[in-house]
Amino acid sequence: MCGIVGYIGKNNATNILIEGLKALEYRGYDSSGIAYNLNNEIKIIKSEGKVSNLEKKLEENIPSHIGIGHTRWATHGAPNEVNAHPHRLGITTLVHNGIIENYVELKKELEKEYHFNSETDTEVAAGLIDYLYHQEKDKLKALKKAMEIIKGSYALAIMFDDELDTIYAIRKDSPLILATKNNEQFLASDIAAILKYTNHYYLLEQGEIAKIDKNAITFYNNDLNIITKKEYVYEGTQTDIMKDGYDHFMLKEIHDEISVYQNIIKSYVPNLNIHELEEKFPNFTKYDEITIIGCGSAYHAGMAAKSLFEEYANIPVNVEMASEYRYKKIFPNPKELVILISQSGETADTLEALRKAKNSHMDTLGIINVLSSSIARESDNVIYCLAGCEIAVATTKAYLAQVLILNLITILISYQKKIITEEKANEYLSDLKKLINQTKDILNKEKDYEKIALSIYKQREMFFIGRNIDYALCMEASLKMKEISYIHSEAYPAGELKHGTISLIEDNTIVIGIVTKDDIASKTISNLKETKARGSKIILVTTDKLFKEYINDKFYEEAIIINEINPLLNSLVTMTPLQLLSYYVALHRGESIDKPRNLAKSVTVE
Ligand code: AGP
Repeated sequence: MCGIVGYIGKNNATNILIEGLKALEYRGYDSSGIAYNLNNEIKIIKSEGKVSNLEKKLEENIPSHIGIGHTRWATHGAPNEVNAHPHRLGITTLVHNGIIENYVELKKELEKEYHFNSETDTEVAAGLIDYLYHQEKDKLKALKKAMEIIKGSYALAIMFDDELDTIYAIRKDSPLILATKNNEQFLASDIAAILKYTNHYYLLEQGEIAKIDKNAITFYNNDLNIITKKEYVYEGTQTDIMKDGYDHFMLKEIHDEISVYQNIIKSYVPNLNIHELEEKFPNFTKYDEITIIGCGSAYHAGMAAKSLFEEYANIPVNVEMASEYRYKKIFPNPKELVILISQSGETADTLEALRKAKNSHMDTLGIINVLSSSIARESDNVIYCLAGCEIAVATTKAYLAQVLILNLITILISYQKKIITEEKANEYLSDLKKLINQTKDILNKEKDYEKIALSIYKQREMFFIGRNIDYALCMEASLKMKEISYIHSEAYPAGELKHGTISLIEDNTIVIGIVTKDDIASKTISNLKETKARGSKIILVTTDKLFKEYINDKFYEEAIIINEINPLLNSLVTMTPLQLLSYYVALHRGESIDKPRNLAKSVTVE
């Protein structure tokens, strides 16, 4: 995924573009560039690496009032200056977020007219639009034609040499918002880039064209008629995109988890009464099967919910990786609910999985963090996570918000199916107060987790083992660890280890065992001891209750003890310490944490 920003107004364009790109850097940061109009000529400055490298190439306060900018997560072509955006062919200059799937055949045709410099699909878009503009002699017609020809996903901000006070924009499947305030016009991939100026914005829809000049933003539909658009308001504030005194966004966002839980409670169950959930959430009684789909941590949230849905709501749950679901044979069940989980709401594989489920006439529910994102808008229903802007690439608060929303759905279905009484349902809901208090306690003990991190941060590999829901938690804890510390880490079902992988255990191999479920605790503890017998160093993660009952010998090096709440909420308080553990391991390894190498916050390409 990449970040796009555009500006037209009375202030200095290059300063605003650089600022906006820095706010979007979490979307991709392997190279960046801007194009701006100076004395009626388009200038392009690009740089490899972070936006700060680009900034160093720019003079102070360049007197330009219009420009476009881009920060890249490479899909086609190495992350270098030549492949960095903006790209320019003929009189057309543009920046792009997405993937043009038919760029090879388009390039073959366009090479007859243009000389290409980069390996990117984006440069082909510049050539195509330039070519079509010369054919159609009209920019709107050329852009309409381009949208008919280009296959794949794109958000494009485009400037033309013969109209240097205007920016055009089109999109398909990649997000683009536009805003106007005090006679300044803004364009961006998401609200973070312009929150300093306004929290009011418009969404460009598929097939529409936006024409932005110094006076206004004009929207055209696919028939090239002028249309008016609904204005959205982002509920958060600029502090969402500030570190607020923390060293990293990731640490701030882990500390935000208390306010995220409070937001969810205030919005969905303010009085901790099950009837409030009945009103706020869709009706689930007609479904006899649930399929949860997501990528990465969103997939892990589904895995963490699966066993709870099956145990407490007595409903079979399939959990699918979106990138696999898209290409597998499915057996549509009219009574099946397909739940799509996505923090960004823009993940390409999850968006396509949604469309596949809808094309198979199944009901869809999005559990999404970013308001009015593509998946939120295309799902039949949506429950927002209310986690606020999450900047760190490694998700923490949004993942836990997803798990909590799924657990609330479990309680609701269990109640609606009369598996639990109203009193029991309300008892579970009242435990949300304990969730907040336990999370506060955990955050107050953050230095304890740093101490454990100091004992393992030099490791080359780690194993996380657990059963049932604990295995699902291992998957997420392992991803957090490898994503930001670059230590090779693997989550493994505890019972499976002896079927091969235990051969990898040697002296001092770190094995982190998650043991929170009473009925299978002894099994996982035995598996941990099997690794201990082969030289492993164990970090035990368990509840206070199990620790007292089962731990009568010190087979572990370190223990993380969770104060038990109830089986539906224990997973949340188990994950926060493990997020902190990963954070401190990465910190002491000197890694970049908020922007891990090779990654981007949301993968809007396949
Ligand atoms: C999680 O830390 C990763 N950044 C990644 O696995 C992420 O969860 C995945 O790409 C899905 O993103 P989404 O929730 O925005 O769809």
